[in-house]
Amino acid sequence: MENRPQWGTRAGFILAAVGSAVGLGNIWRFPATAYENGGGAFFIPYLFALLTAGIPLLVMEFTIGHKYRGSAPMSLGRLSKGSEWIGWWQVAVAFVISTYYAVIIAWAMSYSVFSFNLSWGEDTGGFLMGDYLNRIDLDGGAIGDFGSLVPGVLIPLVIVWAVTLGVLFAGVKKGIEVANKIFIPALVILFTIIVIRALTLEGAAAGLDAFFKPDWSKITDGKVWVAAYGQIFFSLSIAFAIMITYSSYLPKKSDITNNAFITGFSNSAFELLAGIGVFSALGFMAAQQGVPVSEVVSAGVGLAFVVFPQIINEFPAFNELFGFLFFGSLVLAGLSSLISIVETFVAGVQEKFKISRVKAVVIGGGASALLSLVFATQGGLFFLDAADYFINQFGVALAGLFEVIAIAWFAKELKNLQSHANSMSDIQLGTWWRVCLGLITPVVLGYMMFDNLRTNLT
Ligand code: PHE
Ligand code: NA
Repeated sequence: MENRPQWGTRAGFILAAVGSAVGLGNIWRFPATAYENGGGAFFIPYLFALLTAGIPLLVMEFTIGHKYRGSAPMSLGRLSKGSEWIGWWQVAVAFVISTYYAVIIAWAMSYSVFSFNLSWGEDTGGFLMGDYLNRIDLDGGAIGDFGSLVPGVLIPLVIVWAVTLGVLFAGVKKGIEVANKIFIPALVILFTIIVIRALTLEGAAAGLDAFFKPDWSKITDGKVWVAAYGQIFFSLSIAFAIMITYSSYLPKKSDITNNAFITGFSNSAFELLAGIGVFSALGFMAAQQGVPVSEVVSAGVGLAFVVFPQIINEFPAFNELFGFLFFGSLVLAGLSSLISIVETFVAGVQEKFKISRVKAVVIGGGASALLSLVFATQGGLFFLDAADYFINQFGVALAGLFEVIAIAWFAKELKNLQSHANSMSDIQLGTWWRVCLGLITPVVLGYMMFDNLRTNLT
């Protein structure tokens, strides 16, 4: 345990944590979620969720990793014997996510190459994704062929895995830290250029208006609060075993609480930036087509691979460049998250079976890489949405619920964790922190589960 790898610098750790947090969720999930859940009014439940659950949980996970110095299953197991399985649950969820996250990054990679000659053409919906999207629209039950790969996805998928596993082979300091020190600043620069350009497009103001216009009536809707907490959890990579793993590589003296605040606020800042960029671009598209903004709002695969290519087509100038910047941003945001997800189960497997890091990367990463081929087929495309939906609706909320209940209620560890964090931070955690984790978070997550079950059963 003593020659555990360590981050080289504090900035390295923060960039890696931010790299995990800032992902596709910020770019293609947050903007539409905010829009649909009250626009400007959504920021109230969102900030509430960030301050009562997001950051407190981040502090808790950072503290657990730092104190118990192990992957999520090992750290949770050391905290209390009965909790190791919660870590494995989280590792399993992370594993599933990695199998399709890799495929989405591979698409983004091929689209950044397609940008060079705008190869998606005029009918962006009919290009590659078309078959899939049409099928979902017309008949959600028809599943495509598992025997054939989506054209053009194999080479980028191999590259995605080669980069990810290469980074993990190189280790925590020489691999993960170095990669994030390159990817995250590059991402911020590329993305800021796009946002500035988008803001100056015709129609941007109408897009922003749609995004920020508050619908106060939504504030009293329980669903909106559930959406806010769901977004915060997914977006901060909480309850995925990731933040525990990353913080287990922190040096002995680290201001964990401060790091958690920086990570939480950076992720939200990027979310806001993405909301502004995406809605400016959507406003532009609505203006080009002479329709209201509400008609072009979209999220996920549709936003990235159907709507955005259309927006790029209509760009007044430098279309190829902006296409490349957009899809390049998706690749950078996605890769830094994928690295963190895979590290999670690599670390778990390595410690549990006491094997070398290289072996763990080959076994864990290799298994995920092989499985990701399924999602790269025509049939897998359909499966991808289902997997993502299921993971988000149940996997994460449940993992978070088990985690806080085990730690706050069963192991009664919050006080110990609090003094551990306070002993080296200039931000002192008070009773508020224990109330957030022991009371507010379990109640909200419990309600979330109940609400998910109800909507899915009816
Ligand atoms: N936090 C990432 C995002 O916002 C997604 C993610 C989830 C990354 C789980 C790792 C683990 O896109
Ligand atoms: Na995020």
